Amino acid sequence: MNAIILLGPPGAGKGTLAEALVEDGYGHISTGDMLREAIRQKTPVGLLAQGYMDRGELVPDDVIIDIIEGLIFDSVAGKKFMFDGFPRTLVQAEKLTELFSKTGSCLDRVVLLDCPDEIIFSRLTGRRVCKSCGAVYHVEHKSPTEEGVCDVDACELYQRDDDSEETVRNRLFVYASQTKPLVDYYDAKGLVSHIDAAQGIGDILNQVLQTLG
Ligand code: AP5
Repeated sequence: MNAIILLGPPGAGKGTLAEALVEDGYGHISTGDMLREAIRQKTPVGLLAQGYMDRGELVPDDVIIDIIEGLIFDSVAGKKFMFDGFPRTLVQAEKLTELFSKTGSCLDRVVLLDCPDEIIFSRLTGRRVCKSCGAVYHVEHKSPTEEGVCDVDACELYQRDDDSEETVRNRLFVYASQTKPLVDYYDAKGLVSHIDAAQGIGDILNQVLQTLG
């Protein structure tokens, strides 16, 4: 496979950008979405992950690596993918490098979404998600036509448990201590493109598409 990584703090807009890049032919691999689906289905992985996610902590590396390993070995050769929310630790990044080398896959670019904390707080505490289809809204920047109702399938919108102010604070701390070191890891490989994620999504997408060539 050929892949890019969307890296950045919670709420920087990785999922929103990924949604736009799907139109450009990228397959979307989001470990957060996979874990939320596992929780919904009450699978053993979901039951294990729930507590970590509710506290804004990372799910253990071995659980995440198991999920990703299967996906990489099963991926369609020649298709391009984007990783959203993976890797999140140096252990995960090193494992990805190893798996890519084993499968002849190529990491083309790491798109780093830079965003100040005050914008992140407003984006996350104002985020609303459709209970059924997962469409993402924002109470100010992307409000649905009818308050609390999804435009796509008319189902109820909800606020993620981990989008409370206290948990967002912990997620930012976890990002700074465990995920930010990946910037240096990928910088040393010459792969990082910095994107100003405080802009509107249209400007971000244009900048990213230019970067990806
Ligand atoms: P995950 O679901 O991956 O959460 P995250 O990385 O914290 O990112 P978010 O989904 O919260 O934000 P985002 O950057 O996608 O922003 P979005 O586009 O939605 O992970 C959740 C949890 O799962 C983790 O805490 C951890 O416990 C676990 N986990 C997942 N992967 C793991 C791994 N690899 N290892 C270990 N544990 C793992 O945008 C946010 C809001 O802002 C939306 O309302 C949107 O409409 C709005 N918005 C977006 N962009 C803009 C813009 N440019 N202008 C205005 N508004 C915008």
